[in-house]
Amino acid sequence: MDVAYRKCSRHRILIVTSLAGVFLCLVLINSLDRWAARNSIVKLPKQVNDPSLDRSTKAPDDMERRWEAEYESRIQRVRDVCDKDEIVAMRRIWRVATNRRFGKETFCKTKLCPVIVDEQKVLFFCFTPKVASTSIKKFFLNISDISINETLNSNVTALHLAANDALRRISPMYYPTTTINRFFKIMFVRHPFDRLVSAFRDKAESSREEVPYFYDKYWDPVMKKVRPKGSPLDKITFPEFVWYLTHTLERDYDEHWAPFWSRCDPCLVDYNFIGKLETAQHDFPYAFRKVGIESPPNWWSDAHSTLHSLTLKYFASVPEEEIRKLYSIYKLDFELFGYSIREFLPSGNATVT
Ligand SMILES: *[C@@H]1O[C@H](CO)[C@@H](O)[C@H](O)[C@H]1NC(C)=O
Ligand SMILES: *[C@@H]1O[C@H](CO)[C@@H](O)[C@H](O)[C@H]1NC(C)=O
Ligand SMILES: *[C@@H]1O[C@H](CO)[C@@H](O)[C@H](O)[C@H]1NC(C)=O
Ligand SMILES: *[C@@H]1O[C@H](CO)[C@@H](O)[C@H](O)[C@H]1NC(C)=O
Repeated sequence: MDVAYRKCSRHRILIVTSLAGVFLCLVLINSLDRWAARNSIVKLPKQVNDPSLDRSTKAPDDMERRWEAEYESRIQRVRDVCDKDEIVAMRRIWRVATNRRFGKETFCKTKLCPVIVDEQKVLFFCFTPKVASTSIKKFFLNISDISINETLNSNVTALHLAANDALRRISPMYYPTTTINRFFKIMFVRHPFDRLVSAFRDKAESSREEVPYFYDKYWDPVMKKVRPKGSPLDKITFPEFVWYLTHTLERDYDEHWAPFWSRCDPCLVDYNFIGKLETAQHDFPYAFRKVGIESPPNWWSDAHSTLHSLTLKYFASVPEEEIRKLYSIYKLDFELFGYSIREFLPSGNATVT
């Protein structure tokens, strides 16, 4: 009796100590987690699922299956978000596109006609400035058998003008649904804030002589508005740029910072492929191979995103309230394409009203 009792109590002690051990482990894991979250500059949350970084398998078939699963999940995410967003739902019912354009095909601004189409190759490609658009246009000129001479090769502005002229461009809603469904429809995106920083570096950090249009149309008026009287108008700062964005109607945005959804209308056009600049090296050749076009990887060697850590650096000088406002403008882009805002909010509160 005594022995049985002692055995039982020993068991109880064992159980209690192991439970305490498990509890302590959980507490430790939880606090490590929190510590990691606070030090998120050290370890960034993953923005894009990149199967090529997965080291658990080397079998090419496995790898290809993983990429296909990733691409399928991108498409599925767009469908889910489009189904759930009320404004999008309304626009879908009425098929109202933000940049719809019909009528005769004369020259059309790239803001209104961002889709390059090739009827023979049944290819429908929505391009966006700051998302490898130069490489894309070069590639389309090449597959359209238009050679790129020295002038075009050395002058990006001239290249864009020539490509905009030479390639057939339409608005996403130009074709009726039955026609559009014959095409293989591609669009490319990147982290919305990486794109903003990239646009800022390109169009606002350049000198007045290099980008006079942007100074006349945007930077000078903004600097006049936000700076005390008499301050010199030299270069706009990144927080001032963000201020401009949060105080301007989205429909008046330049195409370099207009949201992806307003340009390519992914809720109205069922894209077959959503590419990301973060995985450009795999996405571009894969997408074009789907329509039987081989694109050598070196075409896409320039197509890489800015370092995400650089974007964080630019945003570090922007007040959190402004970042929240900016996020609410680009929220649909974040949700449609599965990007995260979390590491941009110092408070860690990712709820945005
Ligand atoms: C297209 O690119 C390929 C490979 O880079 C090149 O061999 C070919 O000459 C180019 N075609 C034209 C029309 O420039
Ligand atoms: C290069 O091509 C562009 C557009 O096709 C043309 O306007 C220009 O004259 C060409 N330049 C030379 C040096 O051939
Ligand atoms: C580049 O091309 C544009 C448009 O054709 C032209 O206005 C500009 O002067 C060119 N720039 C250089 C450096 O040649
Ligand atoms: C997070 O931010 C939202 C919107 O600004 C606010 O309504 C909410 O109370 C905040 N939550 C916490 C836990 O601070």
